[in-house]
Amino acid sequence: MADFPIVVGINRTQDGSIAVAVGDAGMYSLQKERITRRKHHWGRLGDLPDRYLPAMPLLKEPVDLVVEGYSSDAEIENLEDYHEELRESLSLKEDARIVQVSHHLSHLYSAFHPSPFEQAAGLVVDNQGSPVRRFTEPFTPPPGASGDLLEVASFYRCTRDGVECLAKQLWHGDWADPAGLGCFYALLTKALWPEGEGNEGKVMGLAPYGDPDALGLPELDVRGHEVLIPPAWTELFARREDFLYEPGGEPFRRAANLAAAGQRAFEHALAALADWLHARTGLDRLAFAGGTALNCSANGLLIRRGPFREVFVPPSPHDGGTAIGCALYGLEAVLGVRGRWRWRDDFLGPDPDESEITAAVGSLPDGLVAEQPDDLIAAMVALLEDGRVVGLHQGRSESGPRALGNRSIIGDPRRPDIQDYINYEVKGREWFRPLAPLVLAEHAQRFFDVDRPAPFMQYATEVRPECRELLPGITHVDGTARLQTVEPERTPFLHALLTRWYARTGLPVLINTSLNGPGRPLTETPEHSIDTLRTTGMHALVMPPYLIRKTD
Ligand SMILES: [Fe+2]
Repeated sequence: MADFPIVVGINRTQDGSIAVAVGDAGMYSLQKERITRRKHHWGRLGDLPDRYLPAMPLLKEPVDLVVEGYSSDAEIENLEDYHEELRESLSLKEDARIVQVSHHLSHLYSAFHPSPFEQAAGLVVDNQGSPVRRFTEPFTPPPGASGDLLEVASFYRCTRDGVECLAKQLWHGDWADPAGLGCFYALLTKALWPEGEGNEGKVMGLAPYGDPDALGLPELDVRGHEVLIPPAWTELFARREDFLYEPGGEPFRRAANLAAAGQRAFEHALAALADWLHARTGLDRLAFAGGTALNCSANGLLIRRGPFREVFVPPSPHDGGTAIGCALYGLEAVLGVRGRWRWRDDFLGPDPDESEITAAVGSLPDGLVAEQPDDLIAAMVALLEDGRVVGLHQGRSESGPRALGNRSIIGDPRRPDIQDYINYEVKGREWFRPLAPLVLAEHAQRFFDVDRPAPFMQYATEVRPECRELLPGITHVDGTARLQTVEPERTPFLHALLTRWYARTGLPVLINTSLNGPGRPLTETPEHSIDTLRTTGMHALVMPPYLIRKTD
């Protein structure tokens, strides 16, 4: 084995993604959607030569090990073709191996191993992982259990010397008879928005507009580590057309009431699972991943109520993050290397090629003009003070779904009309979708009920009641916000921007939302960001050292 192994991790299911662990301390990751511009784009044959290799030059380096992650879909049937593609596309070293890791174990390696913890309880909850017969971790299923059963929740005790699976909830995969928290939230989402993928965040945003008691729906039935879905819920899901989302009137109220009941049932059941895992492990730290860990409201509750003293949710807790889990599994479990990489920032995209920015700025489409201000931050602050909505494109892209300052849209949170403007004129999305705040870490407690750093925008917390009127752009209807605390080490440009904004306005808070247009994923390249400026109501784009504006 070389001194500096290169391990490639590939997630071949939803939110297809690739990761490269460079030695024991370097990490790169890229989701397929960022290249193809199709949200949640699934992994498929051809991704490596056609998508990832052109976007990530690092993949041309000699590779020691490839770890693939498959889930419950049919892609694993193409295993031989995938392996041929790997051998043709990568420079595999002579003794390089290709191995697989089952789905929940890849989620776990994306959560515990990059966490700051030496030991922790591990929790993975999503709506369907690998079948029992493909598990790559020691696990004894119940007597007589079919090898086709799918993992929907997994519970672990984790130390730096190894992980132990304590329990799993398994499900037969029949959606007419669902089980588990991930399935529950998926069906809740489908009842409100039957079309498309990834609408779970809308449900979470809609819930505070409803009354959780209005429909008389019960709590979920939690038995130890298993979540069962009572008939009142499954019957409701079967007549899903009754609750389709509409932007106003009685249908809106009904949809919001369902979202509220579902969100509450989800939060309470998740809390019960956390209690079970805490009692079982006796540990006071939790690493939590799986698609359900994107639920910022539930994460906020988990952090506030305990029982865990500290909770680490990776910035990519969903399937997109499992490529990183695959790479770390390869490094640690296959090669036996103790990894030193920790998820301290989420700027894991390919290294930017500065010449690409120069080239993109040199061939701007009609209607846009670029300048290089002497003081770029002052120019950006002036635009924000003027009520303008400004994109910010810099450095390596975020690996996860949250824009954290490298592919962001920034605005003034004091303006009561800015949420509507961004939702309608930039994002082309529902009016109720909340926007998130950036806040200088040292001032966070003045404005938010927060007692710890929140660098990854993963949990909702209360905006202090006396600050809500001042911050209409980021205060959700229930008085919460999903904040990002900003420190100079990891995000120097954001810190400098907020500091200057604070000096000008007396307010250390700005709006931060993802840099994308309607129905699109986060931008990746300068061209994507310029196109977002050109085709949406965004007023300007800062792409250091350039400021790009519209001419009319
Ligand atoms: Fe998953």
